[in-house]
Amino acid sequence: MKFNDFPIGIFDSGLGGLTVLKEIRKILPFEDLIYFGDTARVPYGNKSKETIIKYSSEILGFLTGIGVKIVVVACNTSSSLALEYLKDKADVPVFGVIEPGAKKAVRVSSGGNIAVIGTSATIKSRAYSAAIYKEIASLESDKSRLFGAAFKITEKACPLFVPLVEEGFADEEITKGVINHYLSSLFTEKPSCLVLGCTHYPILKDSISAQIGKNTEIIDSGVETAGAVKDYLERNGMLKTGTKKGCESFFVSDDVEKFKELGGKFLGRPIENVVLAEGIK
Ligand code: DGL
Repeated sequence: MKFNDFPIGIFDSGLGGLTVLKEIRKILPFEDLIYFGDTARVPYGNKSKETIIKYSSEILGFLTGIGVKIVVVACNTSSSLALEYLKDKADVPVFGVIEPGAKKAVRVSSGGNIAVIGTSATIKSRAYSAAIYKEIASLESDKSRLFGAAFKITEKACPLFVPLVEEGFADEEITKGVINHYLSSLFTEKPSCLVLGCTHYPILKDSISAQIGKNTEIIDSGVETAGAVKDYLERNGMLKTGTKKGCESFFVSDDVEKFKELGGKFLGRPIENVVLAEGIK
């Protein structure tokens, strides 16, 4: 088999990364995709850096052991805390979701307020701020401090969003109240954009958008990551050959049936081909 025809590996702490897989599938219909959801150990968002690196590198080993041409770390928490480690360790390119979201935020905000929301671990890591400032500096290398000073970045952890989404409460009144609780202070700052820095938050996009108003552009890191992956594969001549519809296989570390049921809701279509991964737990 030609290397180009190897699948793209995608992993997340659980089923949230399916929001990223969905975006990849939309724009790369012929690629084969292998997804790993660490359903036995989710959530990562309240765990330490050491633990997140350990779990993430086990999954990286699993995916590269199967044979993938690139790995997409669909989890924002893992991308925030383990990406550099994974890039060093892997013998294939590894992509995270932070940089593409940060780049888009800089592009759309042009010097205004940028708001970022994510899990406690993602926000504590300040990975989005670092990526946003890096992008500003790369655009305005000689005037970076001046340009950077015009930006204001506000990061906010929203730890209840993940369980609310997983329990199927996305459209309930209680969730609107929790959105208001976490984000009302951000809303008054009228950010020019809000980065959804967690795999689960795209499911809440409409409710968040309704509260924050249409002058704030909502950025889905998954959408931006899918675009960056496609761009990379094209530029490096790594797209799969042929026009046969790509296939998908899913591995989980626990509870295949629950992943099928909830994952189908995340993807908006039934999920088949789910296998319990041996040796990761
Ligand atoms: N996938 C995680 C993220 O994007 C959210 C769920 C978790 O805490 O593991 O940060």
